[in-house]
Amino acid sequence: MRKKIIAGNWKLNKTPSEAVAFMQSLMPLVSNTTNMVVVAPSFVALPAVLQAAKDSNIAKDSNIYVAAQNMAAHEDGAYTGEVSVLALKELGVLSVIVGHSERRQYYNESDSSVNAKLKLARKHDLGVILCVGENLAEREAGQANQVVAEQVKAAFAGVEAALIEKLAIAYEPVWAIGTGKTASSADAEAMHIHIRKTLAALYNDELANGLSILYGGSVKPDNIKELMAMPNIDGALVGGASLKAADFSALVNFDK
Ligand code: 13P
Repeated sequence: MRKKIIAGNWKLNKTPSEAVAFMQSLMPLVSNTTNMVVVAPSFVALPAVLQAAKDSNIAKDSNIYVAAQNMAAHEDGAYTGEVSVLALKELGVLSVIVGHSERRQYYNESDSSVNAKLKLARKHDLGVILCVGENLAEREAGQANQVVAEQVKAAFAGVEAALIEKLAIAYEPVWAIGTGKTASSADAEAMHIHIRKTLAALYNDELANGLSILYGGSVKPDNIKELMAMPNIDGALVGGASLKAADFSALVNFDK
């Protein structure tokens, strides 16, 4: 059974003190869930959020984990402004989001850098949430399946099966991010099956069936149940609705 993962990507939101206040409101609201709860603050808020989780008795016994939104494709060296996997590991960060469409779109993140980051994170046993997804023009041209399969193949190029543990994929159609437009649960399910088939062809059925595939793109308290009812949707990667404790806890507790 794949565990359900509800992950909040805070993007460029919340200062360290706002992040701590948010954690203090959120933790009591999600203390009874068996779902895995992930929050991804900005780099500078990571230490404060990790400390807030550590200080709370609730987080000790619960399923709250902290992820980074990105990391450098290099371990160290002359790369001004970048953040190393080694620093994330030392802080106690559990995983990292790699290849988010905003990084691909606004910061020229290429398939090869996504591949390098995925390999580097897994080399250091950092979990990865790999983001893939087509844009509107690609969907309208009937190319969504092809685009997503190519992103998956490129991200996993040269990645041994043994490294795929602690890895999840988030299918985030670019046209659904922050727009209020969600993929229908049937369309999302179809793409998740397509991603699983792509992985089965690269590796094997067991690996493809064991990997969690999250959906992202305008997930809200009023549409999460329908999405999560699909057998191949194993969780959600949430932007806007992850910023308020009431909304995010409603997403985490969708099955209550
Ligand atoms: P929204 O939930 O705001 O559409 O953002 C989705 C997303 O990009 C999560 O990574």
